[in-house]
Amino acid sequence: SSFVAKYALLALVSGSVFAVSAQDVRLTTDAGAPVGDNQNSQTAGPDGPVLLQDSHLIEKLQRFDRERIPERVVHARGTGAFGVFQPDADISSLSKAKVFTPGTTTPVFVRFSTVMNYRGSPEQARDPRGFAVKFYTQQGNWDLVGNNMPIFFIRDAIKFPDFVHANKPSAVTNVQDANLAFDFFAHTPEATAMLTRLYSAEGMPDSYRHMDGFGVHAFKLVNAQGDVHYVKFHWKSVQGLHSIRPKDVPASLAGDWNHHTNDLYKALKAGDYPKWDLYIQVLEPKDLARFDFNALDDTKIWPDVPEKKIGTMTLNRVPDNYFESTEQSAFAPSRMVPGIEASEDRMLQGRLFAYADTQIYRLGANYQSLPINRPAVPVNNEDQDGNMNISGRKGDINFEPSGVKEVPEDPQGRLVNTALSGTTQQQAIAKMRNFVQAGEYYRALSAQDKSDLIVTLSADLNNVTNEGNKYTMLSYFYKADPDYGSRLAKATHADVARVKAAAAQLKD
Ligand code: HEM
Repeated sequence: SSFVAKYALLALVSGSVFAVSAQDVRLTTDAGAPVGDNQNSQTAGPDGPVLLQDSHLIEKLQRFDRERIPERVVHARGTGAFGVFQPDADISSLSKAKVFTPGTTTPVFVRFSTVMNYRGSPEQARDPRGFAVKFYTQQGNWDLVGNNMPIFFIRDAIKFPDFVHANKPSAVTNVQDANLAFDFFAHTPEATAMLTRLYSAEGMPDSYRHMDGFGVHAFKLVNAQGDVHYVKFHWKSVQGLHSIRPKDVPASLAGDWNHHTNDLYKALKAGDYPKWDLYIQVLEPKDLARFDFNALDDTKIWPDVPEKKIGTMTLNRVPDNYFESTEQSAFAPSRMVPGIEASEDRMLQGRLFAYADTQIYRLGANYQSLPINRPAVPVNNEDQDGNMNISGRKGDINFEPSGVKEVPEDPQGRLVNTALSGTTQQQAIAKMRNFVQAGEYYRALSAQDKSDLIVTLSADLNNVTNEGNKYTMLSYFYKADPDYGSRLAKATHADVARVKAAAAQLKD
């Protein structure tokens, strides 16, 4: 049977020291001993209690009792796929990273996700979608951990836990609550552009294949001469962009609330491989200052900076084992390779810490040795031991430097030196421009997209019982664009004159 064949194959790939032919496959204990009876526990006679000596029963229950691990604190619901990245433009003048050298093929693992709800929650949620790519490059792993929207709600990592608390299910009811979310957003004017995108078509893609991806932050590219350029990354779906209209969401949910996963698996199994082209926007360091906003503020796009195509990613395989691949995958913005470095974006700086930190908690100290996270190149570090260590390291020189067995540093891993100024400080950025890009985005929408946005956003604003918060929110959208704010005010039965007066008080 295919069941038997599968287990024979498993024994083969897991490198079992004993050859097992298909017909020899029998049920074993976790220690490999034959299981004689898997249906009946050992009892004291026909009517007596179950015996403590039934170690197979006990082991089976114990192992089952430990099947769950913590879900991701955000982006818990997701799905993954394998594929390849192939660069097609020579950008060696910008970056020495080999992943960008035309002619190379780099294996990738991608995980798509929703953000706020639980591991088993419906996929048609009004949410950004995670778009995380792990490149197993010849210089180690590079993770580009992005979303399907080019900007974010907040610009400083210190606000992230509060942002998430307000938007995740309530601590009392365990259900998402617009009152809590908009209480936070009423005090977060920088979220106006991202909220406008969230309640538009971008917040409800009809599948993971039909959405773009963005690195969101600026990153530094560094070439062999040490020259620095700031870049933003953009994955463009070759399949095109499609979303579910608000009126069609209930039917889509009722039809299949695992639709995004099923859509991706079905396409991949049918050989219909989805592709995304990778584009970069490039700025010289001196050009960061040329905008009327802070170019390293992740609530902003870089308008009018041309995009250059540098390669294509093709997904071609679903994982055989969801847990081992998708659940145990660990993406971190801090995981970079020579030629790609972090910018000074305050959000990105916080993210550089948070991901690896949560992964040590979620998966354990040796999570980078798991097959899905292991680099394609040999790992030579001086790490030792820790829970579930399978590194296979040999020898007693577990330190560096050593005169006995020196494993030297590699100059290609040296970071660029960045000039600094000022004193330590705790101050908001200058040039916040919280509303301008929200208005530009709104005005560029089609008539239908504008009405859909008013429908979805007013539906949630109508659940806000705190009148002060509701009027503050409306004033932000009015400040972004008077037509936008007026239409929302009407749809939420608010006084447009009061909204307009509140908007006039706002600094941009
Ligand atoms: C997942 C923190 C902002 C995209 C996560 C996880 C944490 C986290 C702790 C769970 C990781 C895991 O368990 O493996 C933060 C913090 C942020 C932040 C502290 C702000 C300071 C962002 C932004 C983006 C983003 C701006 C988009 C550019 C993602 C994605 C995942 C994720 C795609 C899921 C990765 C996966 O599929 O495993 N984030 N995040 N996050 N975050 Fe963030």
